Amino acid sequence: MTTITPQIFIAEDAEELFESTAEHLVQRIAEAIAARGSCHLALAGGNTPRDLYELLATPGWRARIDWGKLHIYFSDERCVPPSSPDSNYRMAATALLDPVALPHAQRHRMRGEINPHQAAIEYHQILHEHLPKEGGRPTLDLVLLGVGPDGHTASLFPDTAILFERESLTAEVYVERLDTWRLSLTLTALDAAREVIVLVSGEGKAAIVAQSLGAPQPGVSPLPVTRLQACNLRWHLDADAASALPEALRGVAG
Ligand code: 6PG
Repeated sequence: MTTITPQIFIAEDAEELFESTAEHLVQRIAEAIAARGSCHLALAGGNTPRDLYELLATPGWRARIDWGKLHIYFSDERCVPPSSPDSNYRMAATALLDPVALPHAQRHRMRGEINPHQAAIEYHQILHEHLPKEGGRPTLDLVLLGVGPDGHTASLFPDTAILFERESLTAEVYVERLDTWRLSLTLTALDAAREVIVLVSGEGKAAIVAQSLGAPQPGVSPLPVTRLQACNLRWHLDADAASALPEALRGVAG
């Protein structure tokens, strides 16, 4: 396993975190479209990114994105219908995709409402069908991720077999702690991406951020989020989320 040194960006507060991340995304989306004619972006689920998605939907920001050339995917999904309050698709559609009227043909949804294994196979095929290939590998341009208090990212939870799935780009996973099935991009899909951004806000994540970015502990299984090996890996943090980082890491910026 090669050691990836992530680039760490620390914003003063949540507002600056979302503004600076929005600016970065606008630039990266434009670069992808200029270089390859389209941009393929996988959205994170959970609560943190909602404010970012709502910001991107505001007139000043939405005007800066060529939505007709942007394809949206999902880093993971709960095995629930898209109408469920727990659906990551529903959160993103409400906050961003519907307000900007992104055509449904450009929304590539994980079908949480069908059999999890079938949904995983289907999404693997969707990625192969829609993503440009780089070195023969379906390649996302951008992936947004969050991190949970246990170090999970997407739905790659500690001590689950999905962490070791290397063939498929998508897999189903039963999360015992939550007593629920989920769908997730695998590390194979995530590590092939041109850029991965881990977006973290709030003091509640300070401990897991410090643990994730700190030195590996001998004999301790690496946290899922520390297994990310994308060639361009960025952590976008606000000061609260970065508050437990050692000084040596706080000055790091890409
Ligand atoms: C999900 C997410 C998950 C999330 C983290 C952080 O489906 O919940 O994909 O990986 O990013 O759990 O969630 P919060 O942003 O709500 O803290």
